[in-house]
Amino acid sequence: MSVRRLAAEQPESFALTPENLAWAQKTVEKFPAGRQASAVIQILWRIQEQEGWVSEPAIRWVGEFLDMPYIRVLEVATFYTMFLLAPVGRKAHIQVCGTTPCMIAGAGELLKVCRSRIHAEPFHPSANGDLSWEEVECLGACVNAPMVQIVPDTYEDLTAESFGKLIDDIEAGRPLEPGPQTDRFNSMPIGGARVLTSPELYDGSMIGQGAGLAAAREAIAAREAAEVAKAAEAAAAAAEAPAPAAAAPAGDPAPAKDPVAPAVKVQAEADKEKVPNQVDQSKPASDPSVRPDGGKEQVAQSGEKK
Ligand code: FES
Repeated sequence: MSVRRLAAEQPESFALTPENLAWAQKTVEKFPAGRQASAVIQILWRIQEQEGWVSEPAIRWVGEFLDMPYIRVLEVATFYTMFLLAPVGRKAHIQVCGTTPCMIAGAGELLKVCRSRIHAEPFHPSANGDLSWEEVECLGACVNAPMVQIVPDTYEDLTAESFGKLIDDIEAGRPLEPGPQTDRFNSMPIGGARVLTSPELYDGSMIGQGAGLAAAREAIAAREAAEVAKAAEAAAAAAEAPAPAAAAPAGDPAPAKDPVAPAVKVQAEADKEKVPNQVDQSKPASDPSVRPDGGKEQVAQSGEKK
């Protein structure tokens, strides 16, 4: 997250142009009496459009104009990263998204381009004063990562090469094309649309035909038929399977046990020798002879030794 502080160097004063002042007065009138503070973001934004950034005198001016404490205007200006708190490039201030999806998709390369072509540090205008940059948090176009914002537009699906070309165009004053910088349309899958591609959906021929309902019914019937076929297949497979082994006769007190492997038997005997007092597992726990004393000591019901 970029640090949101006011610039160290500030102008002496601030004033809106007469046109912008008239606009600001009209904007405030849109809000009920006593609610003029609701116009704070719109007015700060107009100031940024006029000056290129929001200075400390401008923040004070807004506080007086809207009858708000300065601190509340400062809170708004420092909270939203769309407000620039330091002078930026004359032609463009480039905000590079550095959040995880963009970083994974190559934002690091875009930051290298910024450092080599604009300035090694964010918020420092380039040598000719045309450009500046900063790293910001997610700008909501993650599906087209990596991307940058040059207010008011975003430029997406960038590579170091296409970003370099974008910078060339800005410096040369050529018109920019916002959005993906590839042949992708908006956030469609790369390579074009994969669903809803039937031309009838767009030529108007299905309007009023109930075609959507018919298609839905067809899909439901097809799914049900597939489920019935699957169940029939499973039943046929079960019928063909060999009969299970005969169950133990009723009344058989103990089912047959798995035979004990000879190696296991040998190990068990060896363990018995290692642990002389081992309990004989073949006798029930109630048998006094399984106790360590061999049942010599009688224990009363109450638990007291006799
Ligand atoms: S992570 Fe970059 S736009 Fe969301």
